[in-house]
Amino acid sequence: MRNDILKILINEEEINQSCQKLGEQITKDYNNKQLVLVGLLKGCQPFLGDLSKRIDTHLEIAYMRASSYTKKERSKEITLLKDPTISIENKHVLIVEDIVDSALTVQKVIKEFKKLKPLSVEVVTLIDKPSGRLIDFVPKYVGHIVPNEFVVGYGLDYNEYYRNLPFVGILKQKIYKGE
Ligand code: IMP
Ligand code: MG
Repeated sequence: MRNDILKILINEEEINQSCQKLGEQITKDYNNKQLVLVGLLKGCQPFLGDLSKRIDTHLEIAYMRASSYTKKERSKEITLLKDPTISIENKHVLIVEDIVDSALTVQKVIKEFKKLKPLSVEVVTLIDKPSGRLIDFVPKYVGHIVPNEFVVGYGLDYNEYYRNLPFVGILKQKIYKGE
């Protein structure tokens, strides 16, 4: 599997360091506040696990599924599947994403959450790819910024594979092009 990777962009050590840094910042910002981490499946899984261990404040963890398909260029249909037991009214929500690309997914999740009267809604993402934006959006907490490349690993997939890589890297072109 590792043979399919052209280049490692963010190695395990760098991921650890950014989880530690983000965890410390989030601990400070949400100290004594009712915090709910909401992970967007499936990509958030390793990041949410590592990040949450470094946040030293009482918090709840919930998940939701956001899937998208491209309707036409510059427009996406996004479907949300929420855990019906999650309650965010009067709590601070921190959405946990693997990557923010166009930002349409987080925009839709934020819009839905705001209807449920939380005290605040923010986003923490391991990776930000600002070159992919279709709307104006800046996540509050960012681990790494990547160039305009399709990346896999540490939760991020290509056709459901590569989520189990311990680092984030660029796939070889022959994988896409089916050489
Ligand atoms: P957005 O709605 O365009 O911001 O896309 C967010 C979702 O698209 C992410 O949660 C990923 O599932 C997927 N995605 C965007 N860019 C990449 C990438 O480079 N590799 C893998 N998945 C990606
Ligand atoms: Mg995702």
